[in-house]
Order: sequence, then structure tokens, then C-alpha cells
Amino acid sequence: MKTRESYDGAIERTLFTAKEIDAAVQRLANQIAEDHCRQPLTLVGVLKGALYVVTDLARALAAIPDGPSEIIVDYICVSSYGNSARSSGEVRMLKDVSEPITGRNVVIVEDIVDNGLTLQYLRSLFEERRPASLRACVLFDKPYHRRVEVPVDYVGLQSPDQFVVGYGLDYQELFRNLPYLAQLRPAAFKEG
Ligand code: PRP
Repeated sequence: MKTRESYDGAIERTLFTAKEIDAAVQRLANQIAEDHCRQPLTLVGVLKGALYVVTDLARALAAIPDGPSEIIVDYICVSSYGNSARSSGEVRMLKDVSEPITGRNVVIVEDIVDNGLTLQYLRSLFEERRPASLRACVLFDKPYHRRVEVPVDYVGLQSPDQFVVGYGLDYQELFRNLPYLAQLRPAAFKEG
């Protein structure tokens, strides 16, 4: 088990504080509420990375007057990075949503979009199920190395072109629980 000290030693710098992230989530919630005013909404968090953003977003939406009439929070679990800092290029579904999305207004909630393959996979998977509407919300956009162009309807913050961790994002399953977004020290990487 890694200790708090080893976490601190691994962090180069904070990129976005918890307060900045909270403000971005609130902005995203306002935009989503405006587009789904008094309409039912399904939020699908993409695990594991989106575990915090989908939770915080769902709670922020609940506090907005004239927001969605009802909100279902669901999850799908996919992975393409495994324990590596580099994408395998192949998206694997580990767990599907548990509620039907046919006829629903759906917002896919992602922590980050990098090469775009994960979001493209999810969009085409969900489009086949004929939702009433389908949009994507991404907290951290990292647009520098897209392998596919994929529409993102709501963007929270622009990630720098670095490997980032925290607020759901991991390196070898560690650092997800940091409440801020951080850059790791090069020495923290166990691979080249
Ligand atoms: C990360 C992240 C996104 C995806 C984005 O998930 O949470 O879902 O990669 O990358 P892409 O745009 O390059 O496809 P990952 O596969 O690492 O799984 P995890 O969420 O369980 O960490």
C-alpha cells in the first residue's frame, strides 16, 4: 500500500486545484441543465476515471432550478490503458450500463478525452441503442493527439499535453483519489 508520503513525493505540481475543478463542474452542470430543462436525463459515467466527475455533476444538477426533471445516474466501465501510461488503441468494455438508454436523453460523462477512441467507441455503441439524444461531457480535454475526431458537447478545462493524474485519473491505479489534477514527477513513472 502506498503511503501519503509517497504520493507527495511523486507529484511535480498541481495543474488545477480542487476549487478550480469544482467551478468547472458547476459550469458544466449549468450548461447541461440549460439543454435539458425539465426533461428526463440519464448521466452515464465512464469508469473508472469519471467516478468523481459524474457524482459531483449529478449533485450539482440537482441544485439547479429548471434543470432536468429527473436524473438517472448510470455507469459503464471501459478500459484501453490498462496499467500503462499509453493507450493500447483497443477499447474493452468491462461493464455495460444497467438501465436501458433507448428513448432517453443521454449525456456520457468522461474525465478526459485524449486520442478520442474511448469516446468514439461509446458514441457508436450508444447510438445503436437509439437514445432520444446523445451528448458528451468531458471534464479535461486533451486535444493534442487525437486519433479520431469525436464531438464533445461540454468541455470543462483544457488539460496540458502531459500525463495527468488526480480527480479520477490514475497512473497504475494510484492517484485517482487526489482532489486536484496533478503532473507526476518523471521519476514516478515505472516505465519509459
Ligand atoms: C481513460 C479515461 C478515458 C479514456 C480517454 O480511461 O478515463 O475513459 O482513458 O482516453 P482516450 O481518449 O485516449 O481513449 P482508461 O482506459 O485509462 O481506464 P480508467 O478510466 O479505468 O482509468
